Amino acid sequence: MELNECINTRRSIRKYQEKQVSKDTILEIIKAAQMAPSWKNSQVSRYYVVTSEEKLKMIKECLPDFNQNNTKDAPVIIVSTVVNGRSGFDREGNYVTHIKDGFQFFDNGLQIQNLCLKAHDLGLGTLIMGLYDEAKIREILEIPEEQIIVAVLSLGYPDIEPVAPQRKDVEEIVKFS
Ligand SMILES: Cc1cc2nc3c(=O)[nH]c(=O)nc-3n(C[C@H](O)[C@H](O)[C@H](O)COP(=O)(O)O)c2cc1C
Repeated sequence: MELNECINTRRSIRKYQEKQVSKDTILEIIKAAQMAPSWKNSQVSRYYVVTSEEKLKMIKECLPDFNQNNTKDAPVIIVSTVVNGRSGFDREGNYVTHIKDGFQFFDNGLQIQNLCLKAHDLGLGTLIMGLYDEAKIREILEIPEEQIIVAVLSLGYPDIEPVAPQRKDVEEIVKFS
């Protein structure tokens, strides 16, 4: 897909077809995520891909009701984490910028946007979710303490074509000097 079209037509998808996503496709999408820039190429993002019926049910139960509803048909859930204390930190583990631990989440966001765009490019849809039961997800997926869970995403073939939510006027968010 042409880049502008991909950027402009990607939408958050809250209804999915009953169609599985192959492991190769999931890996291709995560490979695209990995191509994003990161602090000193530290590549701190990690991905926990859930496709088994049993684990899908368990993870979806960690979401608030409205997100359980949004993801009820999703065949894949991806939990993304960052390895804490590397991106934006020095070797002694001190923050080195005014945004403190923010760059590790910045790096993760860059990867997740690549992931969403690549999924869309391949005809798939995604939904990023920021609300979930962190402790339960950590336990179910055995996520180590040194990683911080950042985002939970659903992935699958869309069964809906949402209209784009309106964006602010570009003049409103830009200041030239
Ligand atoms: C960090 C983050 C958290 C989000 N959490 C949720 C969520 O919990 N549930 C949901 O339905 N959408 C969630 N969204 C999706 C946004 O609502 C959506 O991206 C926004 O309305 C713009 O729509 P679009 O993605 O179709 O362009 C989240 C998006 C981001 C980036």
